[in-house]
Amino acid sequence: MTKRGIFICLEGIDASGKSTQARWLVRNLRSRGFDAIYTTEPSKGEVGSFIRQYVLQRKRRVPAVVEALLFAVDRVDHVESKIEPALESGKIVVSDRYVYSSLAYQGAAGLDINWIKQVNSMALPPDLAIYIDAPPEVVLKRMRRRKSIMETFENQRRVREVYMQMVREERLVLVDGNRPASEVAQNILAMVLKRLKSV
Ligand code: TYD
Repeated sequence: MTKRGIFICLEGIDASGKSTQARWLVRNLRSRGFDAIYTTEPSKGEVGSFIRQYVLQRKRRVPAVVEALLFAVDRVDHVESKIEPALESGKIVVSDRYVYSSLAYQGAAGLDINWIKQVNSMALPPDLAIYIDAPPEVVLKRMRRRKSIMETFENQRRVREVYMQMVREERLVLVDGNRPASEVAQNILAMVLKRLKSV
C-alpha cells in the first residue's frame, strides 16, 4: 500500500507573496525528490470558477453568508476531486489558501467564526497550516494590478487580525513575510521538512 501523503496549506492576506511561496515550496520539494503538487482555492473546478465570476469579479460584495457557503462548497469539491486522491497516492499537497481563508475573510466580514467552522466541518484538517504574515500597508502598496473588492486596506487589516488570532490559538504557524522572499522560502521549507520528518 502506498504511504499516505501530507497536506500543507499556505495562508495570508492578498499580495502577501503566498502564491509565489506556495509554488516555490512545490519546486523545492520536487528538487529534493518529493512528489509534490500545487493547488489553490478558490479551486480550478466549476464551483471555483463560479466564485471568481460571481463573488470576486464584481463591484460590490455579495452577502458574507453567500460567500462563506460558496467557498465551503468549493472546498468539499476540491478535497474530493483533487486533494484526497493526491494524498491517497502518496503526494505532498500544497494548497494556496484553505479553510482559514474563510475564517479570516468571511469572519472579518462579520460572520460568526463558529458558524463558519461548522459549515466547513467536512473539510479535511491539514497536517500543517502556515500563515505568511505581512503588513497590509506594505504589501498593498506594492501591488500593481487592479485591486479586487477584497483588497481595500481596511478589509485586509481586519483579515490579518483574524489570522493573527488563529496564530495565537496555534491553529496556524506564523512565518514572517516581511523579509526577502528567498529567506521566507527557506523558513517555510524548513518547517515543512521538519513536519515530514515527524511522520
Ligand atoms: P487569491 O488567493 O487572491 O486568488 P487569486 O489571486 O489567484 O485570484 O484568492 C482570491 C480571493 O478570495 C482573496 O481575496 C481571498 C478570497 N477568499 C475568501 O474570501 N474566502 C475563502 O474561503 C477563500 C478560499 C478565498
